[in-house]
Amino acid sequence: MNFRIQTPALDQPDFLLHLRALVAGLRHYLEEERALGFEGWTKKSAPSPPMAPPGSQGPVVSPLSLEEVRRELGDCRRCKLHSGRTNIVFGTGNPKAKLVFVGEGPGRDEDLQGKPFVGQAGQLLTKIIQAIQLTREEVYIANIIKCRPPGNRNPEPDEIQACEPFLIKQLEVIRPKLICALGTFAAQTLLETGEKISLLRGRFHQYQGIPIMPTYHPAYLLRNPHFKRDVWEDMKKIKKEYEQL
Ligand code: URA
Repeated sequence: MNFRIQTPALDQPDFLLHLRALVAGLRHYLEEERALGFEGWTKKSAPSPPMAPPGSQGPVVSPLSLEEVRRELGDCRRCKLHSGRTNIVFGTGNPKAKLVFVGEGPGRDEDLQGKPFVGQAGQLLTKIIQAIQLTREEVYIANIIKCRPPGNRNPEPDEIQACEPFLIKQLEVIRPKLICALGTFAAQTLLETGEKISLLRGRFHQYQGIPIMPTYHPAYLLRNPHFKRDVWEDMKKIKKEYEQL
């Protein structure tokens, strides 16, 4: 009998590409952990929770930190998207951002790099942010779902349901003063509505007491550049509010 053990084809270009993407994602994750206060896999000691004000019911519960939210997310398998992803795309930017951009979900480039909005649509988002005299480092960027749907299809309700609690926790930690919802999925999910983005955009709504401006998704702008004018109008409103913070 011939017992041949199948070994992975380590020299195949696909395998190497995948391995490289995994390493890049891991490196990014570690950089993010370090930036968030993790060193050598141990957490710096957390400050004690604030004392309860006299006469209150008990100790004030400190909000979770972003690294705690990330840790709780772990190697998430809460929905079917985990099986096709290379990296979880948690979010990047300033953990104390006054302005948070929320997109739909990672595409191919984001999945490979483990960072949101790094592909073509991301380059346009970077320009949009710069157009209001801000940088990607000053704001925070996240998505409704953290794993890439196969073939970039729309996120499905069970996937949004599984993932949204983590975005909510991120927003609870960051406590931004303004949110910009990029596209239909972000706007409809955060505002709990089925209204069209064309009717939602252009004015502030409220998300948990935070003004939220829905606007067109940068990927939609790449296909329909004549809507850039509308996005610019929306951004001017965000900028005006931002300057008054
Ligand atoms: N589109 C999104 O909605 N999010 C990304 O991170 C990239 C593209």
